[in-house]
Amino acid sequence: MNGNMLIKNAEQLVTCSGISAKKGNEMADLHIIEDGAVIIKEGVIAAVGQNADIEKQFKKSGADHSDFDIIDARGKAVLPGFVDSHTHLVFGGYRAEEFSWRLRGDSYMEIMQRGGGIVNTVNATRQASAEELLQSGIKRLNSMLSFGVTTVEGKSGYGLDRETEIKQLEVMARLNQIHYLDVVPTFLGVHAVPQEYSGKQDAFIDFMATDVLPRVADQNLAEFCDIFCEENVFSVEQSRRLLSRAKELGLKLKLHADEIVQLGGAELAAELGAVSADHLLQASDQGIKDMAAAGVVATLLPATAFSLNESYANGRKMIDSNCAVALATDFNPGSCFTESIPLVFALATLHMNISTEEAISALTINGAAALSRADQIGSIDRGKKGDLVVLEFPSYTYIPYHLGVSTIEKVIKQGNLVFDKEKGGIIHC
Ligand code: NIG
Ligand code: FE
Repeated sequence: MNGNMLIKNAEQLVTCSGISAKKGNEMADLHIIEDGAVIIKEGVIAAVGQNADIEKQFKKSGADHSDFDIIDARGKAVLPGFVDSHTHLVFGGYRAEEFSWRLRGDSYMEIMQRGGGIVNTVNATRQASAEELLQSGIKRLNSMLSFGVTTVEGKSGYGLDRETEIKQLEVMARLNQIHYLDVVPTFLGVHAVPQEYSGKQDAFIDFMATDVLPRVADQNLAEFCDIFCEENVFSVEQSRRLLSRAKELGLKLKLHADEIVQLGGAELAAELGAVSADHLLQASDQGIKDMAAAGVVATLLPATAFSLNESYANGRKMIDSNCAVALATDFNPGSCFTESIPLVFALATLHMNISTEEAISALTINGAAALSRADQIGSIDRGKKGDLVVLEFPSYTYIPYHLGVSTIEKVIKQGNLVFDKEKGGIIHC
C-alpha cells in the first residue's frame, strides 16, 4: 500500500474537473475523457489524460514501475470517489420502533415532541462507551465505502452534554485515523433540547456556546458547527447567536435549514457566510437567491424526504437559480437510516428533476465544496487526492439505471485499492 497506481484504458474517465463548487448549468458538464488513464503517485494524482499519452508518459518516466499497481479499466467508467457531506454516523442504539410508528401515521415532529426522536438516541449514546461507538462506526464506514464513498462528514449532536458531545467527536477523530475513509467532523451540540434543559432553550444555547464550543475549538475536534434551525427546535435568532460565536472561534458553518417549516434558514446561511445549508425542503425563493449570491452550497438530502414521506426540496429551481447543489445521504438513526448512494441517485434523478450529470457533480465536486475541500478532492485532477471509483459498467449513465443497486466494482483511496467486489469486498491491509 504505497499509493502508486496506474489506471489505464478507462472507457470513460469522468473527471468532474474543477477546484471549486459547480454552480447552475456548470453542474451538467462532467469533463469526460473517452479512453482515459490516470497516474497516482504516493496517493496524489500525478497525470490525467488520453490513455495513449498517459501510458507513453508512464513508460518514458524511467522510474522503476514495479512498485505501481496497474488497473485495467477496459470497458469500465472511472469517477472521483463520492463525497457524502452530511451524515450523523456516530450514535448508540436504534429507533426501528419509531419507523413503525411513522408507517402507522405518526409524524417525525409528533414523535419528537412526545419525548422520542433525537432525545431517544441521546440516551443510548450517553450510555455507549467510546469503544462501542468506534466499533459501530467502523461497520458503518465499511458500508459507505462499498457504495464508493471516500470522504464522509459526521456530526455530533447525540450527546447534548459536554462529555458525550466530546466523546462523539473523539470517536470521529479515531475513525479518521484508523479507517480508509476520511471523516470530517462537525459539532452539532445544539441539535435538540435535552431533558435537563426542558423549557430553557436559551440557557442551553449559552451553555453550548460558552462551555462546550470553546473546548471543541481549542482541541480542534470539529471543523464545522451546525444547528437544527426549525420551528419548535431552535429559532433563527438562536441559530444566529450560536453560529456567530462558532464563527468567532474559527469554525466554519452549516445549518439544518428550512426542513419542515419555512423559517428563513437559507437566508440566515447566506447572511452568516455558511459553507452549506442542508435539507431546504421549504426554502423560500428569496432564500434560494441569497444562497446563490453568497455561494452557500445547497445540500439536498432526498432519502430523508423519502423516508419521512415529505415532498422533495426544489433542487431544479436551485440549480436553475445558479446555486451549487450537493447531494448527501443524511445517514442517521431517526429520519433517514440509509447509507445508500444508489438510493440518493434514484430519488434525485426520478423525483427531483435533477439530471444524472448534475447528480454526479452534486455527489463529487459539490460534496467536496460542502466540506471546503473542492481544491483537494471531488474530481480527477492533477494534485488532488487519488480517490477514485471504478464502475462495473462502461458509462456513468448506469448509476441511476441500475436502480437502487450499487454499480461500484473498485474503490481506490489515495492510490490504494481498498475495495474490490471481485475480491470479496473491502481489502484489509
Ligand atoms: O438531519 N433534522 C435533524 N436532524 C437529523 C435527524 C436526526 C435524528 O432523527 O436522529 C436530520 O434529519
Ligand atoms: Fe442531518
